[in-house]
Amino acid sequence: MKVQIITLFPEVFEEVLNNSMLWKAQDIGVVNFEVINLREFGIGPRNQVDDPPYGGGDGMLIMVKPMVEAIEFAKKKSKNAKVILPTPRGKNYVQSEAKNLASENNDLIIVCPRYEGYDERITDWVDVQYSIGNYVLTGGEIPAMVIIDSVVRLIPGVLGGEESAEKESFQSDDKSIEHPQYTRPEEFRGKKVPEVLLSGHHAEIEKWRMKNQ
Ligand SMILES: C[S@@+](CC[C@H](N)C(=O)[O-])C[C@H]1O[C@@H](n2cnc3c(N)ncnc32)[C@H](O)[C@@H]1O
Repeated sequence: MKVQIITLFPEVFEEVLNNSMLWKAQDIGVVNFEVINLREFGIGPRNQVDDPPYGGGDGMLIMVKPMVEAIEFAKKKSKNAKVILPTPRGKNYVQSEAKNLASENNDLIIVCPRYEGYDERITDWVDVQYSIGNYVLTGGEIPAMVIIDSVVRLIPGVLGGEESAEKESFQSDDKSIEHPQYTRPEEFRGKKVPEVLLSGHHAEIEKWRMKNQ
C-alpha cells in the first residue's frame, strides 16, 4: 500500500512514520509512505497556498489550485489511490472504516488542510471525508496520522501473532471494549491483580474477561 500525505508541515510526520509499527510495516515492505509538501504547489513568488474566504469571515482557507495540483501529482504515482480528506464535516472515522481501508489495500492519498479549512471545491477531487471526532484540531495532520496508524496496523504481517488485532477494542462492532489487563507485580501499593487472573483456571479467566468487556 502506497500512502501519500499532502501537507504544509512534512516534518511532523518524520517521527510518527518512522517508529514502531509504522516503521515495521515499511521494513517488511507492506507499506510505503511519501510526504508531499503542499507549499511546492503554491502560487506566485511566495508560493501562496491560502487566501481569505469569499463572503468574509475569519482566517484563511487552503486554495483549490495548489491542493488539486498536489493531488494530481500524487495520482500520477498512484492512479487508483483513494483520496481522503480529514474534516469535521466528514463521516465518523471508526474501527470498521479502518478495517475496510486495510482490507481494500488500495493506495491512499491523504490531504491535510490547515487554517480555517479549505475551498469546498477541493472535495470534487476527494473520495472520502472523515471526521475523527467532535472537536476541532488545528490541521489535518493529526487526523491523517490517526487514519494511517489505525489502518496500517491491520495489514496482515504488521502486528505479530501475539499482538493480533482480532480481540482488540472496537474490532467486532465499533463499540466493544477489550477487558482490562494486568502485568507484574501482583501487588502495587496495596492494589492487587484480580485473584482469578492468577488462578490458572482458563474457563474462569475467560468468564471474568467476558464480564469485564
Ligand atoms: C482549524 S480546522 C478548521 C475548522 C473549520 N473552520 C470548522 O469549523 O469546521 C483546520 C483543518 O483541520 C482538520 N480537522 C480539524 N478537526 C478535525 C476533525 N475533528 N476531524 C478531521 N479533521 C479535522 C480539517 O482538515 C480542517 O479543515
